[in-house]
Amino acid sequence: MKISPKVRDFLCLTAHPEGCRKNVENQITYVKKHSEVKNGPKKVLVIGASTGYGLASRINAAFGCKAATVGVMFERQAAGKRTATAGWYNTAAFEHAAANEDLYAKTVNGDAFSREVKEKVIDLIKKDLGKVDAVIYSLAAPRRTAEDGTVYQSVLKTTGEDFTNKNLNLKDNTIGEKTIEAATEEEVEATVKVMGGEDWKAWIRALTDADAIEEDTVTFAYSYIGPELTYPIYFEGTIGAAKKHLHKTAGEINEEFKERGIRAYISVNKGLVTQASSAIPIVPLYMAVLYSIMKERGLHEGCIEQITRLFGEKAVFGQAETDGQGLIRLDDWELKPEVQAEVERRWEKINTKNVKEYADIEGYWEDFYQMFGFDMDGVDYEKDLDPSVNIPSIP
Ligand code: NAI
Repeated sequence: MKISPKVRDFLCLTAHPEGCRKNVENQITYVKKHSEVKNGPKKVLVIGASTGYGLASRINAAFGCKAATVGVMFERQAAGKRTATAGWYNTAAFEHAAANEDLYAKTVNGDAFSREVKEKVIDLIKKDLGKVDAVIYSLAAPRRTAEDGTVYQSVLKTTGEDFTNKNLNLKDNTIGEKTIEAATEEEVEATVKVMGGEDWKAWIRALTDADAIEEDTVTFAYSYIGPELTYPIYFEGTIGAAKKHLHKTAGEINEEFKERGIRAYISVNKGLVTQASSAIPIVPLYMAVLYSIMKERGLHEGCIEQITRLFGEKAVFGQAETDGQGLIRLDDWELKPEVQAEVERRWEKINTKNVKEYADIEGYWEDFYQMFGFDMDGVDYEKDLDPSVNIPSIP
């Protein structure tokens, strides 16, 4: 069948297998050209490995460090005429590319929060690799079922008082206003349960208890802070509360597993269009303005450029470059004062008439479609395709 995009608000319900493959291949090509990792890891577990920052991390581990990788993801295989999710196709493409270069790559598809998936992953590591020497935590999930069966739902709300600001209407690219409600205490707590650090630490503990993690392992999770403009919806919102918890967890992991030499870091990344971030109100308009300014100044990066810089220049596996609070700052270019001054100047003026002048709406949508394998150069979208694609390591 011919596969075309079916967009609903901030989601695309279809994905294109060949476009996703092309996207993964482009990222691999980038890493091969630009990677400069010294003493990189050799056996890497990536939790949230199929899209966005996690996929870029797995590609860097495999093709930059020549590491064996185990990926964890929560994706859907195709069924009848329904396509698989982009993360499924990405992972199929990744595993094929890894196999072509004799790189070990296996994937577990299931709920990373569950004990069952943790056990499955640990069994796999013990059987095939013995131990891992790096653990990258890149989950972005809407909900978590805890071990006692309680379901926690993460929400994207502000805290304190309701917050109103400009917003990009994704249906027609007009600029309107959006009011974001203040969360209740329970909602903040639930978001912290889902997106905070509890599960990251649970993974490190499970790996340690099972003796499936090397001494001196490096583990890191991804965070976002952003500019003051987005504080009410991000850093001072429910998701920010979860990120603060994640930051605190890095300290706890360092303390608890000190004797094993495990080092935990937070890498604060740049705001980018991914499946997780396009769901946050107000943020897409900020990103479109930011893209425009960063592209004009030659500072723009996508996930693959960011993570290549994390592995290389920021030396996450060596003498990691951190700020005064121990955070790795991949958002350094986003937060350059001159970039943010220009964001603020444009933000004041932006409206439906001048949106294309002040914001990179085309770039936003290009990234959005490409996430699902559409709009990729060199892919024939008229071709009939079988949407069912196998991932070699998943029976
Ligand atoms: P994404 O939506 O592209 O990736 C999420 C990954 O988590 C996918 O591999 C998905 O399969 C997996 N996943 C989701 N629920 C799961 C579950 N229950 N079990 C197993 N796997 C599951 O998201 P993105 O944007 O790459 O986010 C990754 C991390 O980076 C998050 O912590 C996010 O907050 C952070 N980050 C994102 C930024 C952005 O602008 N996109 C900026 C800075 C940090």
